[in-house]
Amino acid sequence: MVNTSVTLCGIRLDNPIIPASGTFGFGYEFAELYDINLLGSLSIKGTTKEPRFGNPTPRIAECPSGMINSVGLQNPGAEAVLKEELPRLKRCFSKPIMANVSGFSTEEYVTTVERLDTEAQIGWFEINISCPNVHGGGMSFGTSSSAASSVVSAVRRATAKPLIIKLSPNVTDITEIAKACEAAGADGISLINTLLGMRIDLRRKKPVVANRMGGLSGPAVFPVALRMVWQVYEAVRLPIVGMGGVCSAEDVIEMMLAGATAVEVGAANLVDPFACRDIVRKLPEVMAQYGIQNLSDITGGAH
Ligand code: SIN
Repeated sequence: MVNTSVTLCGIRLDNPIIPASGTFGFGYEFAELYDINLLGSLSIKGTTKEPRFGNPTPRIAECPSGMINSVGLQNPGAEAVLKEELPRLKRCFSKPIMANVSGFSTEEYVTTVERLDTEAQIGWFEINISCPNVHGGGMSFGTSSSAASSVVSAVRRATAKPLIIKLSPNVTDITEIAKACEAAGADGISLINTLLGMRIDLRRKKPVVANRMGGLSGPAVFPVALRMVWQVYEAVRLPIVGMGGVCSAEDVIEMMLAGATAVEVGAANLVDPFACRDIVRKLPEVMAQYGIQNLSDITGGAH
């Protein structure tokens, strides 16, 4: 029997598979399809202080081997997440969850974290400083070391729970941002968010997405994500949650060999709602195939 368990910032997971924020709702929607307790954890829909309607439609553009989204952080706001969404999730999921938080100012990140911090089921905060689809927030914090540092140090004072900072690939050197987050008190790094991209509709001769640009995800970005996980593993001592185009148990193992402790699965959930379940089920067989007894031993094993 192989051992799929891993430990992320002091919390044990039965396996490293975590559905990525924005691709799995608040989890309970998927509990209608299968028992989601087989997952390692899940990262909830990105939450802001106030409710957000999101960007104008169309928000999605299909691409070969991927998709572009410009959702714009649509969510019901911290209060409703706490009072309505998380109680629903608790009825069908008994493990610690990752609360993904976004904001438009440092104060907003802090207020949202302080509010959600009261929920015992939240094991980790995933601080999203990398959304490419909003103006004046999101990615603007994650593309400057000093802005990233000031958000992380402010949020650090707001919670004792582990802080995992979600980074943008839309930078010249992702290791500089990761190092700034580490110095400011982060407990972990998750990467990558989506790559800024666009498509043009030939009939209308206009951008497909109403916001013109959006974030590219899916199998097309996997080699870029893997390269960045590799680089960040060499630059910081923090645990890494790797993501970006992961579609299979083999991809999970590759991400871990590059340096990931746990792995988020995103766009694959939008193609197949059973993607995470199938990866969890397949993992032991693929581990055995490659002679891996304990999954937690392989993190960074390719370096
Ligand atoms: C969005 O809501 O626009 C996507 C979230 C993200 O990319 O961080």
